[in-house]
Amino acid sequence: MITISGTTNIYGLIGYPVSHSLSPVMQNTAFSTTNHDAVYLCFPVHRNALSQAIDGIRSLGISGVNVTIPHKIAILSYLDQLDSVAAEIGAVNCVVNQEGVLTGHNTDGLGALKTLEAANISLNNQDITMLGAGGTTKAIAYYLAPLCHSLNIINRTEAKAVQLASRLRERFNKPITGTPLNPSTLRKAVKSTDILINTTSVGMHPNSDSSIVPEALLHSDLVVFDVVYIPLTTRLLHDAEQAGARTINGLQMLVYQGAEAFHLWTGLEPPVSTMYRSAERVLTEKIS
Ligand code: ATR
Repeated sequence: MITISGTTNIYGLIGYPVSHSLSPVMQNTAFSTTNHDAVYLCFPVHRNALSQAIDGIRSLGISGVNVTIPHKIAILSYLDQLDSVAAEIGAVNCVVNQEGVLTGHNTDGLGALKTLEAANISLNNQDITMLGAGGTTKAIAYYLAPLCHSLNIINRTEAKAVQLASRLRERFNKPITGTPLNPSTLRKAVKSTDILINTTSVGMHPNSDSSIVPEALLHSDLVVFDVVYIPLTTRLLHDAEQAGARTINGLQMLVYQGAEAFHLWTGLEPPVSTMYRSAERVLTEKIS
């Protein structure tokens, strides 16, 4: 337990809404486990109040923040610098304040990569299919594309998949394709892919009965990774388990992206398992 004093560092989450966030329990657990003199709070910041919030971070000396909807892209123009990943992805989910200099980072993609590594899933020679072509896909694809054999981005709006795929193809010089979402493309992709990642919100509470992938397409040679974490076992993951596939839930990625933020802020090794258990406990309490 941290004793708050005159030297306690303040971290937080800016976004709207933020009251449901698991980041406070995760980060405060990490601070107390490592005896780091810091506290993490949630700051509800409306869309039109971002500029004042950034001034507040500077003037109050807040040491760092996570950034969520609706500010992940808008915040780019308020920061002093971006790391190369955030600049390339065009979105920031973590800010470090070093003596008034605000640097933007994006830990989503690295969080996804670390999640796969922790599950001992090698990307070498693997064909990956990603469902969705939004900000989350972009962040994750940026890390997986250089390591895998091929990447297929399947999206309801075809143009977004094609555009993202072509950008990634140019950047990584790999077989990366953008495909429209329909029963035939889905069947073909799921049949031949090694790793299937859902980055859309389909299956999220309260629509927990929905899944983009029909149960009959899933098979035991797949690794299925869903970024949705409410519920922990989504319909997609449930069906994948039934089919004998390996599954990875979205809470693991949430924890790993938070662990990367913790590391950027403190320079310390994040206590990942303890962070995961604390987030899982709160999530289970919220759902029940
Ligand atoms: P994020 O930043 O979390 O990725 P986003 O940028 O809004 O959020 O992207 C959401 C993704 O989920 C998009 O690829 C979206 O498809 P469209 O580009 O066609 O909008 C996808 N998505 C959301 N709801 C969906 C649904 N019901 N069926 C299929 N795809 C869906």
